[in-house]
Amino acid sequence: MDTQIIDGVRLANKIRLQISDKVKNLKEKTGVIPGLAVILVGNDPASNVYVKSKQKAAKDIGMNATDYLLSDTVNDSDVIELIHNLNNDKLVHGILVQLPLPSNLSKTKIIDSIDPNKDVDGLHVVNMGKLMSGMQIFPPATPYGIQKILLDSGISVNSKHVVVLGRSEIVGRPISILMSQKGIGGDATVTVCHSQTQNIESITRQADILIAAIGRPNFVTGSMVKDGAVVIDVGINRVSDINKKRGYKLVGDVFFEEVREKASAITPVPGGVGPMTIAMLLENTFQAAWISSL
Ligand SMILES: NC(=O)c1ccc[n+]([C@@H]2O[C@H](COP(=O)([O-])OP(=O)(O)OC[C@H]3O[C@@H](n4cnc5c(N)ncnc54)[C@H](OP(=O)(O)O)[C@@H]3O)[C@@H](O)[C@H]2O)c1
Repeated sequence: MDTQIIDGVRLANKIRLQISDKVKNLKEKTGVIPGLAVILVGNDPASNVYVKSKQKAAKDIGMNATDYLLSDTVNDSDVIELIHNLNNDKLVHGILVQLPLPSNLSKTKIIDSIDPNKDVDGLHVVNMGKLMSGMQIFPPATPYGIQKILLDSGISVNSKHVVVLGRSEIVGRPISILMSQKGIGGDATVTVCHSQTQNIESITRQADILIAAIGRPNFVTGSMVKDGAVVIDVGINRVSDINKKRGYKLVGDVFFEEVREKASAITPVPGGVGPMTIAMLLENTFQAAWISSL
């Protein structure tokens, strides 16, 4: 099969260039420079890499970006106090708390202490509610990126059966809502699977569009996919690889080599959804700054 390998890097670069122009215009017209604050608690190596790339991406397009690196000995109040200061800082338009947080911290309390108008990750309960009602201002970055990838690739989800593997608050659940909403980028019939789903293969084989977001390396094999399906791989998993200098490689939740033989289109890992997540975070940060300038 002539499978389309969807290039998330190309699209993300195009979007970043567009945002860069918008940042320049905003600065010229209003003096406002979009500011992003990223909070990282603890020393998770993967989270460290994500935080650095978000900061670099923001600075590359002319935004201000500051990382707040907190030790894993902090408590909820320490993080919430920092967030309150950032909420009151006029130069900060977007606040992002890198997940996962150490298990002694309350994700809900911390995320919900962010000013919803600065919650560029779209995870505050108010923004989740807005997502449910189709009034979102900040769609969560990864689901938003998936929607953009499909639109840009000319793949309509309208009237298709979309099967989502995973029901997390940051990927599975919001993407299922976006895809089932009325309108462009939506109107799909959506099935959500999770760890308690029985006979998952029989469901994935019905998917016109399969979105895997479970964090299990190479979980989706060729036999789980219908001929001609579109497969979006959200997973980013480190697996050991002695041939790599760093000792590991990144793989998705989809067994790429097998599934590409059956899919009509597929996103690779790396280079698929990942770069889009950062691009959409920048878009949300720009939106927050623009709204603040009105
Ligand atoms: N590309 C990107 O930019 C990006 C962004 C975010 C996340 N990710 C990656 O995407 C993956 C998922 O992230 P997440 O934050 O959504 O993960 P998560 O919070 O750990 O959620 C995983 C979901 O997968 C379900 N699940 C786990 N094992 C399963 C199985 N064997 N069969 C069916 N469902 C199963 C879980 O079910 P239960 O609810 O029943 O536990 C849960 O709903 C990770 O690899 C992560 O690194 C990538």
